[in-house]
Amino acid sequence: MTPNLRTSYLGFDLRSPLVASAGPLTGELDGVRRLDEAGAGAIVLPSLFEEEVVEEEIQLNRALEQGADQFAEALEYFPAIPRLDTAFDRYIDHLARAKDLTEAPVIASLNAATGGGWVRYAELLEDAGADALELNLYRVAGDPTEDAATVEERDLALIRSVRDATTLPLAVKLSPYYSSFAHFAAAAVDAGADGLVVFNRFYQPDLDLETLDVVPRLELSSPGELRLPLRWIAMLRPQLGAAVSLAATSGVHSGRDAAKALLVGADVAMTTSALLRQGPGRLDAMLRELLAWLDAHGYESVAQLRGSVSHRNAEDPAAFERANYRRVLRSWNAGAAADGPGLPVG
Ligand SMILES: Cc1cc2nc3c(=O)[nH]c(=O)nc-3n(C[C@H](O)[C@H](O)[C@H](O)COP(=O)(O)O)c2cc1C
Repeated sequence: MTPNLRTSYLGFDLRSPLVASAGPLTGELDGVRRLDEAGAGAIVLPSLFEEEVVEEEIQLNRALEQGADQFAEALEYFPAIPRLDTAFDRYIDHLARAKDLTEAPVIASLNAATGGGWVRYAELLEDAGADALELNLYRVAGDPTEDAATVEERDLALIRSVRDATTLPLAVKLSPYYSSFAHFAAAAVDAGADGLVVFNRFYQPDLDLETLDVVPRLELSSPGELRLPLRWIAMLRPQLGAAVSLAATSGVHSGRDAAKALLVGADVAMTTSALLRQGPGRLDAMLRELLAWLDAHGYESVAQLRGSVSHRNAEDPAAFERANYRRVLRSWNAGAAADGPGLPVG
């Protein structure tokens, strides 16, 4: 019997646990169509950035105001203003078309710059028909006058305000850079998040040594990056309970990677880099790899697999992590190193 791939995420019953995370492919209709054909369980659109919408609105207003100080009779000589779409109009247009192309839930992603922006655009995205909302909390805490509690409270207040403003299922995409991540994750759920997406990938800018300019460098992920979400999902699943949705993102490149994410307790495994490298059809191949793995290991369903390896059995996660740390350091094989053995570690 073919294993059953269905899973639940943010209250949706998904046909598969592989979700296309926010990225360029989900921002194109052809990408959405091909991801749907490949069997994506859900599709997360690229983030709507408040600054982009605001900048375009300002430019649009300037364009409309040009000539407003001319004589009224002169206005009729102006050519009719074509319909000018803002970034927001284009976003909701894409959302509507994407929804026409797939039965899978289409999740809008939002990255606002102001408290009011988070609420306003969350409401507008709900009105526009998004099935769920993912808050992309991408920020770098670089202000030395702000302590960790202040930074965290601002993020929690933001989640609360969006929760109050919309009835949409709400996921929050988090960075790992909270000093007490397990505490913050639980607080995010208390603030109203139905699910957590771990982890947002932080892009490190580079320096051009000729021009001394800061240059953006976007490198796609590698499978090794999955280990960070794996560790945290394994810890969070028993702490947060089964009702909270957990999505693994960063480093899911194969069906076996997806199996690992599900084993430690993720409800879905999200992927972008693998699809950008190999095309949307890669998702279908990943699903087949996952099916083959489930079959070979005697699992009848994703539901049976989910969370079967987590920290549930570790009474003290901190002690478990410490023991693992020592084990990892000792696992270094000095004989295999090119520069020979060094000091004993651990
Ligand atoms: C080119 C590109 C664009 C992305 N755009 C967004 C975005 O708009 N919003 C967001 O939350 N994540 C965005 N991401 C992050 C992905 O959704 C994903 O979380 C990250 O790439 C890690 O997953 P991966 O290892 O499968 O690539 C983007 C990633 C890439 C490579």
